[in-house]
Amino acid sequence: MNIFVFETSLEASQYAYDLVAKALESGASTFGLATGSTPEELYSIIRDSDLDFTDAKAVNLDEYYGLPADNDQSYAYFMKKHLFDAKPFAQTHIPNGTATDVEKEIEDYNTILSENPVDLQILGIGSNGHIGFNEQGSPFDSKTRLVDLTDETIQANKRNFESEADVPKKAFSMGIGSILESKQIVLMAFGENKAKAVKETVHGEVTPNVPASVLKNHSNTVILLDKAAASQLDPS
Ligand code: PGA
Repeated sequence: MNIFVFETSLEASQYAYDLVAKALESGASTFGLATGSTPEELYSIIRDSDLDFTDAKAVNLDEYYGLPADNDQSYAYFMKKHLFDAKPFAQTHIPNGTATDVEKEIEDYNTILSENPVDLQILGIGSNGHIGFNEQGSPFDSKTRLVDLTDETIQANKRNFESEADVPKKAFSMGIGSILESKQIVLMAFGENKAKAVKETVHGEVTPNVPASVLKNHSNTVILLDKAAASQLDPS
């Protein structure tokens, strides 16, 4: 994995944008997308750009279970607001948070992923090292499934909800096995609260206890950090 440290998250996001633009120019047709605060600057740069995704497809990592697409905390809503309304794609795919037949939703999403191999996957990382909603202990060969969010994730995400009780306790998440199938992975991490997870990912062993550590097994992963997220890394 290649690690780049930038002065600011904006500079890192600009670098991520350049990777997305290069992939699009080289014929990438499917982009794996993430939500959360981390990719917001990247999406803002894309919105202001002349990149054209009308022939491309998007598959998202995850969605809260129980939230309809028009709920302003759903990831479907986030993607429309931050990217899709300004930059239409030929197809966009996000798990349906209100699916009543959970098994069918999972099967359908895995079919979508196998029919649309991801060329470039954008990833954030949780303060506990999760990628997507693949929490600690997630098998490295996992596919899409309904997962229980850990308390750490619920605590981290409650800032977006009126109260902790409103944070969904489950989510559909693309599995780690599917993430690893992406041709290129661009993980971004910003801020002091990600520094420990970044250190464990980069310097620690490859272990399900730190889901992002599995990216060491992927041949084309780039990690883009701001100074704060890189602050616990060995400078060498
Ligand atoms: P954040 O979330 O971008 O809002 O920090 C990242 C994650 O939990 O994967």
